[in-house]
Amino acid sequence: MKRLLVSGSRASCLLIIALLIMAPVRAQDDAASIFKSKCVVCHGADGSGNTKMGMQLKAADLRSDDVQKLTDEQLTDVVTNGKNGKMPAWGEILKPEQIKGLIVYVRSLASKNKTK
Ligand code: HEC
Repeated sequence: MKRLLVSGSRASCLLIIALLIMAPVRAQDDAASIFKSKCVVCHGADGSGNTKMGMQLKAADLRSDDVQKLTDEQLTDVVTNGKNGKMPAWGEILKPEQIKGLIVYVRSLASKNKTK
């Protein structure tokens, strides 16, 4: 009986671990598609800001040190509340989870750039 209980909790433990491993992957996928639909207009697919709209508004180069040196909290704040009336606030449109995923995505844009 005791053995059964132990193996049972081990199984649910594995399930939790599996979910934890899988969750970020799904969040990342979501972030990529959200970025495409909401951010690329201004920031460009590579985050450079080299789009018509991006150049007009002077959208930040998301790969730059200026942006990457900000903490996750600061980035979250900008994405949630906007900046200088040019960077839109997404807090009403996106869930905190999705914004969290976008920050991870923004970080990944920078590392992609560095390996070039
Ligand atoms: C309408 C154009 C536009 C869209 C769409 C847009 N941004 Fe921006 N974003 C800007 C501009 C312009 C700035 C620069 C603001 C400034 O520094 O004055 C900026 C700045 C930023 C910064 C840097 C902030 C800082 O403090 O340097 C981040 C991070 C960012 N945007 C993320 C995003 C994300 C994520 C999305 C999609 C959810 C997004 N942006 C969509 C225009 C846009």
